[in-house]
Amino acid sequence: MTAGTAAASQGERTALVVGATGIAGSALVEQLLAEGWSVLALSRTAGAERSGVRWLSADLTSAESLSAALAPVDPSHVFFTAWSRRDTEEENIAVNAGMLRDLLAALRGKDVAHVALMTGLKHYLGPFEAYAAGEMADTPFHEEEPRLPVANFYYAQEDELFAAAAAQGFTWSVHRSHTVIGHAVGNAMNMGLTLAAQAALCRETGEPFVFPGSETQWNGLTDMTDAGLLAEHMLWAATTPGAADEAYNIVNGDVFRWRWMWPRLAAYFGVDWEGYAGSPRPLERAMTGREEQWAELARRYGLAEPRLDRVASWWHTDSDLGRDIEVVTDMGKSRDAGFTGYRRTLDAFTALFDRYRAENLIP
Ligand SMILES: NC(=O)c1ccc[n+]([C@@H]2O[C@H](COP(=O)([O-])OP(=O)(O)OC[C@H]3O[C@@H](n4cnc5c(N)ncnc54)[C@H](OP(=O)(O)O)[C@@H]3O)[C@@H](O)[C@H]2O)c1
Repeated sequence: MTAGTAAASQGERTALVVGATGIAGSALVEQLLAEGWSVLALSRTAGAERSGVRWLSADLTSAESLSAALAPVDPSHVFFTAWSRRDTEEENIAVNAGMLRDLLAALRGKDVAHVALMTGLKHYLGPFEAYAAGEMADTPFHEEEPRLPVANFYYAQEDELFAAAAAQGFTWSVHRSHTVIGHAVGNAMNMGLTLAAQAALCRETGEPFVFPGSETQWNGLTDMTDAGLLAEHMLWAATTPGAADEAYNIVNGDVFRWRWMWPRLAAYFGVDWEGYAGSPRPLERAMTGREEQWAELARRYGLAEPRLDRVASWWHTDSDLGRDIEVVTDMGKSRDAGFTGYRRTLDAFTALFDRYRAENLIP
């Protein structure tokens, strides 16, 4: 047993959530608080003050900033859910692997028991610049698949994690999620809020809610990851004896077709809909120039965020729904290891939309 494991098993459980204002990080903060942890929450901009959370403002791209922020704290468990989007994969590797490396270096000599790293299905699909383009494993994706022969910031982050775990004596886990739906504003990739914004804009003008993606996505099977379930999964791997030192996929556990899901989302919002009709109709094109329309909606309904670019990430939803391949994910490895968490994706969507409404993010 490492010193960190001993500390954690004695009940001194302090989590450091890195990227705590993000779509996954904020769900983790909620899950950890619900389970009675003390939470250290790290991002550049602090989130809402709440009991049990101490915000650490630090810039992950600055080793000095990290050392200063982490010097006075002693987390037993670390959950890394931050990322920085760059123009090329080479830059993604340099920056994102560097952020994890510097964060772990700043924790050297402390009593850390476990580090959980969030990555995603680009592990199997390839990085953005070669996304779903080369030869890929058969679906459903399994964790045992060999890495693709292209550079990928997830591989570089895994390698940083493995090296630091060996040198510093903590256990680790990697969590490969599919598209995450959850609660965050102003983040880079957020399909739930993007679709909610699309529907709200369409309802105002009487336009149909148009599926933006490909024929393959409209008709094929797919799956998704609820941010709350991802948080449960990361916490499970971090605290369950025998579950550590593995990479796991994490998806909701059901599969669906967008041609089934889309009319149900439209019904929730009370809008007419159109499915795939011959070619993709990307949101980046269809939704361009709507900033003032959103600002007007925000004024009229008293919405919390008047800036459309902080609500919708059209590019990301276009990219996910525009894929010309089937994407489904195997959960057998987690289940064999004892994780049986599950969400119905339609229920995850509607619960999230209810929350956006309750918090005045959408009308
Ligand atoms: N979202 C998805 O659908 C999805 C799906 C699969 C995989 N993933 C992967 O999951 C990982 C996390 O993505 P996410 O979508 O959860 O992230 P996100 O919602 O965009 O959140 C990123 C978090 O990192 C923080 N951050 C960014 N740059 C920082 C810096 N320089 N210093 C300190 N904090 C910084 C942000 O806060 P500040 O900006 O305030 O610093 C924020 O809290 C990525 O590797 C991503 O590829 C995401």
